[in-house]
Amino acid sequence: MAKGNTINPQNTPAWALLSDHAQKNSGLKLSNLLDSNSSRYSQFSLELGNLLVDFSRCLATDETLDLLVELAEQRQLHTKINDLYSGALLNCSEGRAALHTALRGAGSAEMPAVTDMASVANLVAEQLELFLDFADAIRAGNRLGHTGQRFTRVINIGIGGSDLGPRLVSHALADHSEEVSVHYVAGIDGIELHDALCGAVPETTLFIICSKTFATLETRINADAARQWLLSSLPKEAVAAHFAAISVNDTAMDEFGIAANARFRIWDWVGGRFSLWSAVGLSAAIAIGSKSFRRLLEGAALMDEHFKTAPLRQNIPVMLGLLAIWQQNFLGVSNHVVLPYDQRLKLLPDYLQQLFMESLGKGVRVDGAPVDYRTGCAVWGGVGSNSQHSFAQWLHQGTAGIQVDYIGTVNGPSMSIAGGHLEGMANLIAQAESLARGQAAAEVTDALIESGCGDAEVEQLLPHKLHPGSRPSNIILLRQLDPAGLGMLLAMYEHQVFVEATIWGINPFDQWGVELGKVRAMKFSKLLAEGASESLPGIGIHFLRWSK
Ligand code: F6P
Repeated sequence: MAKGNTINPQNTPAWALLSDHAQKNSGLKLSNLLDSNSSRYSQFSLELGNLLVDFSRCLATDETLDLLVELAEQRQLHTKINDLYSGALLNCSEGRAALHTALRGAGSAEMPAVTDMASVANLVAEQLELFLDFADAIRAGNRLGHTGQRFTRVINIGIGGSDLGPRLVSHALADHSEEVSVHYVAGIDGIELHDALCGAVPETTLFIICSKTFATLETRINADAARQWLLSSLPKEAVAAHFAAISVNDTAMDEFGIAANARFRIWDWVGGRFSLWSAVGLSAAIAIGSKSFRRLLEGAALMDEHFKTAPLRQNIPVMLGLLAIWQQNFLGVSNHVVLPYDQRLKLLPDYLQQLFMESLGKGVRVDGAPVDYRTGCAVWGGVGSNSQHSFAQWLHQGTAGIQVDYIGTVNGPSMSIAGGHLEGMANLIAQAESLARGQAAAEVTDALIESGCGDAEVEQLLPHKLHPGSRPSNIILLRQLDPAGLGMLLAMYEHQVFVEATIWGINPFDQWGVELGKVRAMKFSKLLAEGASESLPGIGIHFLRWSK
């Protein structure tokens, strides 16, 4: 870890200048910024291939951007980006590299700390061919079940990073006219598995156990139940034909009965939430086909190249990360709300929630020193037009610090029978403009008078109808939602996370908070099963009393 990153970012000269700058500009209005500079849009937007990011509605001036870039330089961001690509052990608390970019073909010729880069590239290429061939064989009906029938249903069993990415890609890109339907099961209580098995026929069902460790409780419980379900109709030997797995844990795969030609590798230098691009994406590859999966990787690779080579001020993930820092640490933003205006991206907020919150939810820097500044915020959202009829009110007139990413696809889905895509895009623009500009007293008053209100009524209604505005948002546009565009979008957010973590000096690649919960759950499930009331906390005793 370069020394510049172990120190408190608040001690950099740029941080002090940014604090000063924030104070001096505390009365700044976004509407003024938007209206006073006719070239603001071109100066505050960046384009790469079919993706455009418009950050003109962030509460930032040219000077803000310059200071943020200075901060990035003082935090040696460029060096850290090179470290990421060359396999340095950036995940310091687990002694691992974070080489998800290598899964998309990016890498450095320099010798990385993890192993030599050529072998990483070879391992990746070899597994890619294997799992994409497998996916195509399932799609084409060339790989059959135990009784010789083709698979018509695939059920992915995994959770967290072994579920959210492939689930999102399947949902966003599958055309749903395939002969094979792909389902996802994550939850521990068996409901999702029950639903996925409704109407399923054992002879034509393939399960994919997606678990880096093959030890995650939720996944083990669902996998064992799926195995039992299969064995209630088919003999034990059928397991080899009806289960595939992605894991680092060969022993567990042996014990479960996963066939040698149905197991795929993942490595400890790929974190769960960054693993979509590996064989963890197998179920998605079955849903969209190998060709599209390769396009997804190519899109991500384009963003990787851009992140590595573009100057900081022209670099999309860098600017997004720096503006997030500006908004969170200097303007009090505590919510990052993701609003895709395309139903196919419905699962994007869930995916980003894990990506950002598992990565940035850290209270100490890489050197172990506690942080005394905000690191990350709540990430949540939903489909944009639906949100307008539920929580968007809170964004416009509520009191919490928010920042929104509006995500639009210019050319809508070809299969849409309702139309409405254009109207959806109009709503997206209207929402971003409303957040930015708000509605001032004069405008509200005029409208009320025009609708026939007298003075007393105007006075009474005015405060309720005021919109403060100056609430920041980005508009992120894809020309259309295709595999390459989605790959770019997801890689963009991965790199944004890396930028934020680097500035804050935290490790975005571990998740000890998650691990704690896993260990404690093991303990309590044993105590509950044994009925050991003396060792349980109060609520556990009540649970035992009530359970049938
Ligand atoms: O949710 C926490 C986590 O550790 C993720 O990072 C990971 O993707 C998920 O659990 C599942 O882990 P596994 O793939 O080992 O089952």
